[in-house]
Amino acid sequence: MIKRDVMIYTRYERFWHWSQAVLIFTLFFTGLGIHGTHSLLKFGQAVTIHTYAAYALMGLWVFTTFWNFTTGQWRQYLFKKGILKVIRFYAYGILVGEPHPYKKSLQRKQNALQSLAYMTFMVIIGPALWLTGLLYLFYNEWAGQPWSGDALWLVAVLHTVAAFAMGTFVIIHIYMTTTGKTPLHYVKTMITGYDKVELSEVEEAYLAETKTVDMR
Ligand code: HEM
Repeated sequence: MIKRDVMIYTRYERFWHWSQAVLIFTLFFTGLGIHGTHSLLKFGQAVTIHTYAAYALMGLWVFTTFWNFTTGQWRQYLFKKGILKVIRFYAYGILVGEPHPYKKSLQRKQNALQSLAYMTFMVIIGPALWLTGLLYLFYNEWAGQPWSGDALWLVAVLHTVAAFAMGTFVIIHIYMTTTGKTPLHYVKTMITGYDKVELSEVEEAYLAETKTVDMR
């Protein structure tokens, strides 16, 4: 096995990651303004920014879902064995200096816990936000129904619950990014795209020949 600096996050992957991060921060901040948690923005301003950012995020999700399927990257998110070992590492092993139970490879960029967390993000938290968000946005279309008052209350509660689930995800996610070789190692990887990955001689020769992945 040879350790090489390999581009594991392509330009599009880094673009969608950071633009998604900016949009989610914007949505959380303006959403809390709408909710009444802070009054740093006027209500109308908060609603306008929230609506534009929401359309941008939904557009980004559509493109990224298309990208995930056309590049085969969706496989990275599938369930993997060994999740208990990863949980044990973050709960205990990390405190006593044990090595990480999982080695990154080009085919397996994420460990089992990461895949489960991102899958939850993509199939539960994300859809809960855009589904309830769209119902909220188009309230005028169904406002005349006899049940619309109760339904609006439910939509608002579900949207807020999903927003706090998203906030929790973001906090844990940011903590996790500090647990690499140095606190900023993973952040740098998501900026430059490069990380050290173990390659077999065959893999290295194949990548050097086909140039399907950039190496430094
Ligand atoms: C993805 C698509 C999304 C859409 C279409 C959407 C849409 C909306 C709409 C229409 C409102 C109500 C505005 C009003 O009262 O006029 C709202 C409120 C809110 N949104 Fe979003 N949103 C989205 C994503 C998010 C995200 C990602 C977050 C946070 C991470 C978030 C957090 C909130 C919060 C906290 C409120 C206030 C809820 C309340 O107190 O009733 N939203 N959203």
